[in-house]
Amino acid sequence: MNGWKGLFITFEGTEGSGKTTQVELFCRYLDERGISHIRTRDPGGTPIGEAVRKILLDRENTNMRPETELLLYLSSRYQLFHQVILPALEQGRIVVCDRFADSTVAYQGYGRGIDLEWIRLMHHQILGDKKPDLTILFDCPVKEGLERTKHRMSTQGEHCREDRFEQEAVSFHQRVRTGYLKIAEQEPHRVIKVNGRNSPEDLHREILSVISKRCPNPCLLGKL
Ligand code: TMP
Repeated sequence: MNGWKGLFITFEGTEGSGKTTQVELFCRYLDERGISHIRTRDPGGTPIGEAVRKILLDRENTNMRPETELLLYLSSRYQLFHQVILPALEQGRIVVCDRFADSTVAYQGYGRGIDLEWIRLMHHQILGDKKPDLTILFDCPVKEGLERTKHRMSTQGEHCREDRFEQEAVSFHQRVRTGYLKIAEQEPHRVIKVNGRNSPEDLHREILSVISKRCPNPCLLGKL
């Protein structure tokens, strides 16, 4: 038990898996029903975190060491969790976060090969035993997700370029996907896997159903 009155929901997945579109649709749904919530993202979500995000995603930063990367993600997360997420949850609000600690396990742990136990200990230092109440994992074949990301960029104009992670080899993204699937296997009560290949409309309906069924504190959401 996390011990807060609110509800902490995270959306996770590999590149182009559709999670950000679903964060958008879910938050719009809450807005339309007047259900108070906070939408945020990791890395980012605070002025400090957004500055760190720029460094992390900047494709010019080619010589960043995996451990430097890990520490930057953790620093952004520490700031976000203590400045935004925890106070909101203690006030009984819903927090919807685009990525969180599972991304570090998947990308820096499984993807980069940093020791998983080290990551677990660092998370314990910055988050204690707190975890999201519910995590929706968008799973889709890596190549398909990367294609979708490329397509999105080509339709968004020339200024939109691949970031440091989108440039990574397919094998890196495969390891990240494997990592996510392991997390889902290890924590089936918290992490719910959905098929990122489904249409946005179907996924939105599925997510509403999953959240209303699995939410440990359903009165916060009213009737979804
Ligand atoms: P986003 O564009 O989905 O917000 O993600 C930013 C990138 O950062 C994405 O490629 C995944 C990566 N990432 C990590 O490598 N580790 C982390 O802990 C987080 C939160 C994101």
